[in-house]
Amino acid sequence: MKKVYFLLTIAALGINVHGQKTVDQKVAELLSKMTLEEKVGQMVQYSGFEYATGPQQSNSAAVLEEIKKGKVGSMLNVAGADETRAFQKLAQQSRLKIPLLFGQDVIHGYRTTFPVNLGQAASWDLAMIEKSERIAATEASAYGIHWTFAPMVDIARDPRWGRVMEGSGEDTYLGTQIGLARIKGFQGKGLGSLDAVMACAKHFAAYGAAVGGRDYNSVDMSLRQLNETYLPPFKAAAEAGVATFMNSFNDINGIPATANQYIQRELLKGKWNYKGFVVSDWGSIGEMIPHGYTKDANEAAEKAISGGSDMDMESRVYMAELPKLVKEGKIDVRLVDDAAGRILTKKFEMGLFDDPYRFSNEKRQKEQTDNPENRKFGREFGSKSIVLLKNKGNILPLSKNVKTVALIGPFGKETVANHGFWSIAFKDDNQRIISQFDGIKNQLGKNSTLLYAKGCNVDDQDKSMFAEAVETAKKADVVIMTLGEGHDMSGEAKSRSNIGFSGVQEDLLKEIAKTGKPVVLMINAGRPLIFNWAAENIPAITYNWWLGTEAGNSIADVLFGAVNPGGKLPMSFPRTEGQIPIYYNHYNTGRPAKNNTDRNYVSAYIDLDNDPKFPFGYGLSYTDFKYSDMVLSSTSLKGNQTLNISVTVSNTGKYDGEEVVQLYIRDLFGKVVRPVKELKGFQKIFIKKGESKKVDFKLTPEDLKFFDNDLNYDWESGEFDIMVGTNSQDVQTKRISWTK
Ligand code: GLC
Repeated sequence: MKKVYFLLTIAALGINVHGQKTVDQKVAELLSKMTLEEKVGQMVQYSGFEYATGPQQSNSAAVLEEIKKGKVGSMLNVAGADETRAFQKLAQQSRLKIPLLFGQDVIHGYRTTFPVNLGQAASWDLAMIEKSERIAATEASAYGIHWTFAPMVDIARDPRWGRVMEGSGEDTYLGTQIGLARIKGFQGKGLGSLDAVMACAKHFAAYGAAVGGRDYNSVDMSLRQLNETYLPPFKAAAEAGVATFMNSFNDINGIPATANQYIQRELLKGKWNYKGFVVSDWGSIGEMIPHGYTKDANEAAEKAISGGSDMDMESRVYMAELPKLVKEGKIDVRLVDDAAGRILTKKFEMGLFDDPYRFSNEKRQKEQTDNPENRKFGREFGSKSIVLLKNKGNILPLSKNVKTVALIGPFGKETVANHGFWSIAFKDDNQRIISQFDGIKNQLGKNSTLLYAKGCNVDDQDKSMFAEAVETAKKADVVIMTLGEGHDMSGEAKSRSNIGFSGVQEDLLKEIAKTGKPVVLMINAGRPLIFNWAAENIPAITYNWWLGTEAGNSIADVLFGAVNPGGKLPMSFPRTEGQIPIYYNHYNTGRPAKNNTDRNYVSAYIDLDNDPKFPFGYGLSYTDFKYSDMVLSSTSLKGNQTLNISVTVSNTGKYDGEEVVQLYIRDLFGKVVRPVKELKGFQKIFIKKGESKKVDFKLTPEDLKFFDNDLNYDWESGEFDIMVGTNSQDVQTKRISWTK
C-alpha cells in the first residue's frame, strides 16, 4: 500500500519515480506562462509554400512573421533537414521558443514508395504493411518530418470515391487490422525515437460513406451503422495509442465532423478516453460556413473548439477568432488550455523541447535517400499486392525466353505514375522509378526482344496510334497490355461517375485481341474498375494497382514467375456503376435472390446478375489450393467458451505459393438483422507445392458482438454459420449453436 501512496504523492507533485518532472507537469508549467494568443498559436497549422494539398491561400511572408511571434504550432508540407531546420529557427525566435511540429502525408511510403494502400490491402500481409510503414517512418523522420497524416482508416464500399485508393477497402475487420499495423509501423518503438513519426487516424469519421461516392459529400446513416461499420478502426487506433486524429470534411447526420460533439467529445475524448489531439482536415473548420452549419468564422471557431477540434489546418479561423471568443466569455479558456495542452504534450513526447532540431539531420537524411534495402522490400511488397484475376490456359507465368514480347498501352513506359496518388515528388523520380517496360526488359532473356507501343492515351478519343500498336502486336509471340486509370484519376477529389477504362483503351484492347495473339492484361488503378469485356475475353488478367518505386520489377517478378501472386481483393468489384454500392457483408433482406441470375420477386436488378464481377477476398494463384473439410471443436457451445476451427489446405499445383485463408461467420438471427457474412479472421500461409498445412482459428463470444439500435454492444444466443474459404463466395460452412 505504501508504494501506492508514494506513486500518488509524486504524481501530485508532477514528478516521476526518477524525480523528474512528468510531461503533464511540464505542459502545465508552460501553459501557465503562455498568453492566450500563444496558446491559440499552438492550435494553428499552415501549409508550406512549395506545394499545396488543398485549396491553398497562404501568404508566405505573413506566415513566417506569425511563426516568429509564436502564433503557429505546426507546418505541413515542409520537409528536408535544411527546410525544417530553417522553419524551426524562426520558431526559436519566439518568446517561449516553442518548437514547430512538421506534418506530411506519408501515405504509402516516402522516398521509397510502396503500392497504393488499397493495393497493399490486397496483400492481406499485416507484417509487410507494418514494415512498409516502419520504412516510411524511418525515411520521413530522416527528412525532418515528425508526423504523418496516416493511416487513413475510412471503410469504403463505393469505388466511385477516389479515396478508396488510400484505404483498406470495404471490410471493417480487415481495415481495423491494417490500420493497427500501420500505426505500429509508424510509431515504432514510441514517440521520441528518432525513427518514429506520430501517426494520425483519419478521416474521423465515415468519410468513405459520402453519398454517391462523391468526395466531400454528406454522410447520413444510423448511429448503429456508424458504430458497427465505420468507427471500429478509429476506436482500435485510439486504444492502440495513435498520436493524433484528423477529422473529416463531411457532415454526419447533418453535423460536420469538425464540430461533431458526438464523435469527437462524447466518443473519442469521452468514452474512449483519448489523450492525443485532433487536427482538422484542410480548411474544414472554415468550411462549416459553406456547409451552412455556421454563419461566419467566429461561429465556426466556437463550434469547432466546442466540438473537440484541437488544431486548425489552413482555415485561419482559430487565430482570428478564438482569442475574441475567450475574451467575450463565449468560450471557456479551459477548452483552449486542453487543446493547446494536448498539442504541447506531443511536442514534449517527441523530444522537441530538448532539441528542436533533433529530426533535422543532413547525415540521416542522406542515409535514407536511396536505401537499397528499402527498395528491395518495395519490390517484394509490390509483387505481393498484385491480384491474379484470370489465367485461362495458364498463359502465366511467361517464359523469360519468349522470343518476342510486345508491351502495349499508355502506362508501359511511365515512371512517376507508378508512385500513385499521395506521393511526394522528388526531382530524381524519373531516374529512380522502375517502369513496366524496364522491369520486363530487365528479366527477359538475352535472345528475346521487347517491343513497345503506347497504343492510346489514358483519357481521350485519339485512335491514331492503334495501327502501330496492332502491327507491333503482330510481331510478337505474346502481348502484355497495360491499361486502367491514370495514377491521378484516383485519390482526393477524384470521384468518377464512370469507372470503366477511360478514353479508347477498351477499343485498343479489342483491336489487339483481334490479332489472335495471346494477351495478358495488366490493370493499373487505385480503385476497382469495371472491365466486363476484358474479363470475358482476355485469358490472363492481373490487377496491378500502382506499385511504387520498384513497380516494373515487382510486375516482372510476377509475370515471369519469380513470385507466385497471392493477392486477394479488399473490395467487391461491381459489374456496372448501377450495381454500386455492392459489398459482401450485406443483409439478407426478406427476399434474397436464390442465385446469381434469380429475378423472380427477389432483391435483384432485372437487367443484371446479382453478384459482383469479382468478390471480396478473391484472387487466384499460379498453383491450386485444395481445402479439406474443416473441423470444429464443438457445434454446440455455451457462454464464454472458445470455438476452435481448423482446416487443412493443400498445394496441389506446380508452384509454391501463398494463400489467404479467410474465416467468416453469419449470425442467423438477431435483434437487428445481421450480415450474410462477416470476416472474423484470416491467415496468409505459404505452402510448398505438394505439401499441406493445417490452419487454426479461434472464435469467442467477443467475435459475435454487434450494436443494436440502442447502441448496446453485445452478443446473443443463437445459431451461427462458420465459414472458411479462399474468398467470400467460395467457402465451406458448418452450423453451430451458441447460448449465453
Ligand atoms: C487533404 C486531405 C487529408 C490530408 C490533408 C493534408 O485535404 O483530405 O487527407 O492529410 O489535406 O494534406
